[in-house]
Amino acid sequence: MTRSVSFAESGFNLGALHRAMLAAFSDYIVPLQPDADAFKAALSSRGFDPEASFVAAEDDDVIGFWNVATRNTKRYLIGSGTRIGHRGRGLACRLGIAAIDAAENAGIESFWLEVIEGNAGAERLYRKLGFDVTRKLDCFRLDHPYPDLSSCKLSDFGTVANTIQRHSTWEPTWQNATETISGSQLTCFVHEKGGAIIGAGGIVHQIAASERSALQDLLAAAATVGSLTLVNVDTADRSLCSLLEELGAHRFIVQSEMRLSLPNVS
Ligand SMILES: CC(C)(COP(=O)(O)OP(=O)(O)OC[C@H]1O[C@@H](n2cnc3c(N)ncnc32)[C@H](O)[C@@H]1OP(=O)(O)O)[C@@H](O)C(=O)NCCC(=O)NCCS
Repeated sequence: MTRSVSFAESGFNLGALHRAMLAAFSDYIVPLQPDADAFKAALSSRGFDPEASFVAAEDDDVIGFWNVATRNTKRYLIGSGTRIGHRGRGLACRLGIAAIDAAENAGIESFWLEVIEGNAGAERLYRKLGFDVTRKLDCFRLDHPYPDLSSCKLSDFGTVANTIQRHSTWEPTWQNATETISGSQLTCFVHEKGGAIIGAGGIVHQIAASERSALQDLLAAAATVGSLTLVNVDTADRSLCSLLEELGAHRFIVQSEMRLSLPNVS
């Protein structure tokens, strides 16, 4: 018999959730098989909320999951998945409804997620649950670092995060939000007209500047750590997207950010 229950009440540990995640994502549209430590770190930095998350269980196994994070009055779907042999039975739909009901009952105002363009099944699921696309996001890889010819200097996280907030025309998505990345090992560059925050593996979490030339300087400074990956750049940021294209960056994923606004039931 299948039971659907919050992760907090399920009696499962993160190891069981990790095994289910690896199985459900084994045929994912892009390779995504984190080891146990990376999986736990990603859940923790994003604000995984065991009471807001739901699993479907059969015998002693997790067969489906909705891993959800809470921050203030927002919830975010870190990841949803159903093991291959259990798909098409409405499990993800049931878990989604349970997660949305729990969010409504907790007075949450909006539920957010991202879905990769081309993952038609998942997008259909989210639309069926009432989510709508709010914006498109591009992910870039810049494989050819070039020499540092910049007027950027290393600075502390708080200074650079504030500078970026002043210059940016858009909010970072959940995984690049200041709260998510603040506990990570980061390299932070400030420019008099902007800033950039780079994490492990050359991931550019945040970058913004008031002028294109400053953006270019910041990318040059960032590229001294190796090749760069920019995940979830707002497609509407033409200045950054066109600069990256000109520099030869490869757009490897396009995502849709989706939101469900919840009625206030409290
Ligand atoms: C996406 C996923 C979670 C769906 O799980 P599931 O338990 O099979 O989904 P459900 O049976 O609850 O289907 C619910 C709805 O989703 C949509 N859907 C799910 N899989 C679909 C598919 N392969 N093709 C088209 N629509 C699909 C349908 O609208 C379906 O409702 P319907 O059958 O009434 O039309 C599952 O395919 C999966 O784990 N995929 C790999 C990981 C992944 O992509 N996760 C999402 C990351 S954003």
